[in-house]
Amino acid sequence: MNSTLLQALYEDHIRQRQLLDKIETELRKFGDDHAVPDLELIVLALKYCVDYPARYHHPVEDVLYARILEKQPGLRDTLDKALQDHEVLARLTASFATAMAEMIGGAPRYKALAAGERFISMFRRHMETEETKLFPSARDSLTPEDWDSIDAELKLPDDPLFGENIRDAYLALHRRVLAGSR
Ligand SMILES: [Fe+2]
Ligand SMILES: [Fe+2]
Repeated sequence: MNSTLLQALYEDHIRQRQLLDKIETELRKFGDDHAVPDLELIVLALKYCVDYPARYHHPVEDVLYARILEKQPGLRDTLDKALQDHEVLARLTASFATAMAEMIGGAPRYKALAAGERFISMFRRHMETEETKLFPSARDSLTPEDWDSIDAELKLPDDPLFGENIRDAYLALHRRVLAGSR
C-alpha cells in the first residue's frame, strides 16, 4: 500500500479542522453585540478553504474515489454522495465568503452566522464520512499497483496544480491564519 497519499489526505483534514475550529470560535461572537470577532481571521481562513480543497484535496479524492468504485461497487452511493458533497461544499464556502463580505459592508451579522454554521457542519460531516468509510476502504482494497497508477495520474509533469510549491503556498497561508488567531 502507498500510504503517502492517504496520509496527506488525513493531514489535510487535521488542518481543515483546525481552521473550522478557529472560524467557529469567532462565529460564536457574532451573537454577542459586545464581542469583537476577528473578521480578518475568518476571511483568511476562507481563502484557504475556497482554494486548497478545490485545487488540491478534492481533485486527489476524486481520482481516489473513482478507483475505489472499481474495486467496491457496493460503495457507489457513499462515493457518489461524497463527490456531490465536494460541489455542495464549494457552494457553501462561496456563500459564506459572500455573506462575510456583505457583513463587512454593513449587512447584519445573522446571515453570515447562518452561512458559516452551514459551512462548518457540512465540512465536518463530510470529512467524518471519508475518515470512517472511504479512507479505510481505500486502505483495505487498493493494491500497490492501484496506488502507483493513482500517483501517476495525479503527478503529471506539466501539471502545476500538484507541484510542491503550490501546496507549500497553501500551507503557509494556513500557518498564517493560525498564527494570526487570538
Ligand atoms: Fe472530500
Ligand atoms: Fe477530504
